[in-house]
Amino acid sequence: MDELVSLCKRRGFIFQSGEIYGGLQGMYDYGPLGVELKNNLKNAWWSSMVYENDNIEGLDASILSNPTVLKYSGHEDTFSDPMVDCKTCKSRFREDQLPENCNKGKCDFTEARQFNLMFKTNVGPIDDGSSFAYLRPETAQQIFINFKNVIDSSSKTLPFGIAQIGKAFRNEITPRNFIFRVREFEQMELEFFVKPGTDEDWHERWVKKRLDWWEKQGVPKENIELYDVPEDELAHYSKGTIDIMYKFPHGLEELEGIANRTDFDLGSHTKNQDELNISAKVMPNNNSNTRLAIQDIESKKWVVPYVIEPSAGVDRGILAIMNEAYNVEDLGEGKERIVLKLKPHLSPVKAAVIPLKKNNDDLVNKASDLKKSLQSLNIGRVVLENTGNIGKGYRRHDEIGTPLCITIDFESLEDNTATVRDRDTMKQERISIDALPEYLIKRIHK
Ligand code: GAP
Repeated sequence: MDELVSLCKRRGFIFQSGEIYGGLQGMYDYGPLGVELKNNLKNAWWSSMVYENDNIEGLDASILSNPTVLKYSGHEDTFSDPMVDCKTCKSRFREDQLPENCNKGKCDFTEARQFNLMFKTNVGPIDDGSSFAYLRPETAQQIFINFKNVIDSSSKTLPFGIAQIGKAFRNEITPRNFIFRVREFEQMELEFFVKPGTDEDWHERWVKKRLDWWEKQGVPKENIELYDVPEDELAHYSKGTIDIMYKFPHGLEELEGIANRTDFDLGSHTKNQDELNISAKVMPNNNSNTRLAIQDIESKKWVVPYVIEPSAGVDRGILAIMNEAYNVEDLGEGKERIVLKLKPHLSPVKAAVIPLKKNNDDLVNKASDLKKSLQSLNIGRVVLENTGNIGKGYRRHDEIGTPLCITIDFESLEDNTATVRDRDTMKQERISIDALPEYLIKRIHK
């Protein structure tokens, strides 16, 4: 993990937030390459959900949440972790993560108390605590409360889904393991609404689909274990959850959870609960003004759909993908190289164009024209690497996972060809510059 964290800082993927003032625990900033990698991962998820499925629509809802939403969702009452204080060192721990000794000697713990993980903030000009909102602890609730807006505007029938990517906030008692457990993170969540009775079949299907998707992002199935969450560990809304557990550098932990949320959420937020035959145990709701149900085409009866929810963490995804991609290769004669073998569609930079000499106008102009033409393909970032040191250029681009380096030399001026070096094999070949767009597109989608 230490080597990965150091690469992330050195090359501009991820920085500790607020570092110049001592940092803020549990918060990280994504740098120039990190933001590209993160956007590429989110785009891959969005494509696989919204663009590849005509029965899935997207949403981008607000982060600040009306407290009533989180009252009926159950978060106000149940979204807490047991917390313990050490009387010796005055530190605070999660009950399931207690150390034996602290920095002041043997720990002396208090009884556990429940600690709600939601952040609150004041809304409006008067700060007397009477008007507050929560920062959403998951993106899911905004999907449920927009259920009617989405079906009315997009004429959906069951089964169908609503997908959302966005920030979530949890006041974790002990944030740790780099970007694995943080207080501000991003989620990619799908709420897939199905007919009651078909839920278990859909649950299984989504587990398979999600495993295949992670494999395409470079997280192989052999480094994943499925954890069928036992009943006494299930979240209050879940009838069954399968966690996709990945072998992170610090141990086997959750990358994504796929839950069968039954009709709990729509049933909790709907009006007219008594008329809707809701199977989950929900809090009586006298505040909602909207029926969150769908009319069955054949029977004409109102049905509260069941929900299958694949919920993945973007930051945990980045950590898993970088961990898989990170390689130190022995080049012989005491030399080695660090290479980030990212799937090309995720690479922050798709190609680097390198003029052989940085002060030669002809070479630099030709390289610059090629950069522009490859950039216009709209496949992600292409850079002009004008440092005049090809070896250093290769090393840098190996470390940041650039699939191709393209060198413009004097021969290029004569015959319009360039040397293309592949990141993974380090093989070099001479290719016509006119053929490069197609070559690059193929390499990115390989
Ligand atoms: N809507 C369901 C839900 O939020 P969750 O298991 O609490 O379920 C889903 O969270 C995913 O969000 C997790 O699998 C994980 O990838 C990510 N996640 C949760 N808490 C996190 C944290 N403190 N830091 C980073 N990622 C987190």
